[in-house]
Formats: sequence, structure tokens, C-alpha cells
Amino acid sequence: MTTATPLLDQETRHKWQTLLDTLADISARHPDAVFASSLAAEDMVLTHAIFEARLPIEIFTLDTGRLHPETLAMVDRIAQRYGVALRVVHPDSRAVQEHVAQHGEFAFYDSIELRKACCGIRKVQPLRGVLAGHSAWLTGQHRDQSITRSELRESEYDHAFGLHKYNPLASWTDAQVWDVIRAHDIPYNPLHDQGYPSIGCDPCTRAVRPGEHPRAGRWWWEQASSKECGLHQGNIESKVIKNG
Ligand code: ADX
Ligand code: SF4
Repeated sequence: MTTATPLLDQETRHKWQTLLDTLADISARHPDAVFASSLAAEDMVLTHAIFEARLPIEIFTLDTGRLHPETLAMVDRIAQRYGVALRVVHPDSRAVQEHVAQHGEFAFYDSIELRKACCGIRKVQPLRGVLAGHSAWLTGQHRDQSITRSELRESEYDHAFGLHKYNPLASWTDAQVWDVIRAHDIPYNPLHDQGYPSIGCDPCTRAVRPGEHPRAGRWWWEQASSKECGLHQGNIESKVIKNG
């Protein structure tokens, strides 16, 4: 498939075309493949590509219950632009209530263990539920996002969830993501224009200052090497094995 992308440089145009081909290939090999969208910029590029190529890849988002309103509003903006309602997945309400009753609403600031427990209930368990029975899932991760992702592969086996995992934007740069968003007029979360290059849950994301790392605003009270929430456990494990 070819599409007109006049505003893109040759390399980015090539990446875009390759992305469409890669997605078609994944979809042919895994007709039940699903895409986890955080509704952030990278994921909007993938969303646009999936709709543009008319692929039967289901797109879902994990609504943790602590997302910014601007993030949640993207679900409606996607429906308006593409005429498709994303699947919105919620955590188990009883598990959330018990965790909050026991540890408080802001326990994630107290320790990495409590932060990971919250991510476990609000993100990881719901993700496990969605992925059960599927043979592949896709993410919008790319290598230059974080030290935990510097060796990210485009295709891997996800041992944590027991299925294939594709990261089709693995080799993309941040600049290429934004060039494609502008060239295709893809809708994006307005928080990106307010100092949030990387967006997670509201209480666990702050705006970054000029010159700071794009993920400096995620779990900013923690070390960079622990900044994964459990959706992408393999990123940390491969680092641990390598670094001994
Ligand atoms: S995180 O692990 O630090 O939270 P990040 O925000 O960088 O992840 O997003 C990386 C990828 O994880 C996204 O491209 C998306 O595939 C998936 N992801 C993250 N958050 C969500 C979410 N709330 N719903 C669905 N997928 C998500
Ligand atoms: Fe909880 Fe923060 Fe993880 Fe969201 S990012 S699930 S609020 S610890």
C-alpha cells in the first residue's frame, strides 16, 4: 500500500511505508492480534496506521482510573476521527478499593513495592485479562524512550504473558513520530504541548523542564532503571540478565 506523505523526509517516509507493511504482515500471521494503546503520541501513529491500512487489529486502552481527563478524551477524538470506538478496559474495582482502603489513595509515593502493586492492579492484571487467549499483541514502545528499552526488539516472545509481542516502532525516533503526526494530521493528546513528552497516570506523571529526559516526568521520585510498570517486564529482565 502507498499513501501520499509529502511532508516527510525520505527516511521517515520509508519508515511509514514499512510500518504499514509490517502491520499487515503481523495481522496476516496473527488474525487475533491486539494493540495496547496508552493514547500517547506513538500509539496514535500506530492507531492511524491500523485504520489507514484497514487492518482487523483490535485496539484497546487500559483506563487505570487515574488517567488525565485529556488522555481519556482521546477515546472520543478517535471515535470522531476514525468512526471506531476503542475498547476501554477497567481494573477489578474490588481489588482497587481494597488496595486504597489498606494503603491510601497515594500509596505509590511511599515505596516502589506499593507503586508496583498499584500498577499491578490497575494495569498489569487488566492487561493479562485482555491478552488471555490471544496469540500476539502490539505496543508503541521505541528504543530511545528509556534505558530500559535501549535493546528493544521489533518482535519478541513475551514470556510474562505467554504470547508474541511486536514493537513495530522500536527503531523510530521521537522526531519521526512527530513528523508523521504532523504530516497526517493525526489527533494527539494536548498534554504533549504542555510539557508532557511521556504520559502515564495523572498522579505519577509531571511535566518536564527543558533539557530533561522525556521520561523524567514519569514516576519522577524513582531511579530511571525501575521505571517500568510491569506491562513490559521483559525490558527489565533482559537488562538484569545482561548486566549480571
Ligand atoms: S509504561 O510502561 O511506562 O506505562 P509507556 O507509557 O511508555 O509505558 O507506554 C509504552 C507502551 O505500553 C505503549 O505504547 C502502549 O503500547 C502500552 N501502554 C502503556 N500504558 C497503557 C495503557 N494505559 N493502556 C494500554 N496500553 C498502554
Ligand atoms: Fe497506580 Fe501510578 Fe501505576 Fe497509575 S502509574 S497504576 S496511579 S502507580
